[in-house]
Amino acid sequence: MEQTANHKESIYGSRLPEMEAVLADIQRRIEDLRAKMLHETGMDPVEHCLGRIKSEESMREKCRRQGLPETEESALVTIRDAIGFRIVCAFLSDVYRIRDHLARESGLTVVSEKDYIRSAKPNGYRSLHLITQAPGGLFVEFQLRTISMDTWAALEHHLKYKKTVSGNTELIVAELKRCAEELASTDVSMQTLRDMILT
Ligand code: GTP
Ligand code: MG
Repeated sequence: MEQTANHKESIYGSRLPEMEAVLADIQRRIEDLRAKMLHETGMDPVEHCLGRIKSEESMREKCRRQGLPETEESALVTIRDAIGFRIVCAFLSDVYRIRDHLARESGLTVVSEKDYIRSAKPNGYRSLHLITQAPGGLFVEFQLRTISMDTWAALEHHLKYKKTVSGNTELIVAELKRCAEELASTDVSMQTLRDMILT
């Protein structure tokens, strides 16, 4: 069969099957970890977990945005979130427990860690980011956060792509940041309550 005229080779070259295998392997490890923690503590620490391979279109767009050539090297070496997981936990302590398990038992090597929970971004964004490397060399990004942090990030993401016509940008930015701080403070209170109930 001939390929269509506008067919482009994947930016991931021939490595897409390997990427899919890594994604599935990690997905399974996360499932096992949840089951183990549920068995040990009576509680599943993960509210939900999303794993994805960045689409061809978003990866090409990110390369252009960063002034990189649209190559396999850019997509898999320079940019390190082609494979990504977002793990949303109920409680703060679960975020760090999952982090420790991933670092120790996943077969992955942590190559960089950014704790935007201890040091939030200026806009109020909070999450723990890990960049890891799988045995074959592929990078895998993890974003670990609480439900509150996830709610905030989802709203902020929507707003970033909407143009404000009302000229209230400054107020919106300040209010969003205030919401992030209220949510962070609620996370700490919820953690305290949970510790009181469980000990
Ligand atoms: P990219 O932002 O992906 O180019 O990588 P980076 O090296 O700047 O990493 P960073 O840790 O800043 O962000 C990685 C990812 O975290 C982003 O792609 C987003 O998915 C998420 N993220 C970071 N900052 C924000 C933010 O302010 N708001 C929201 N909603 N998501 C964010
Ligand atoms: Mg960024």
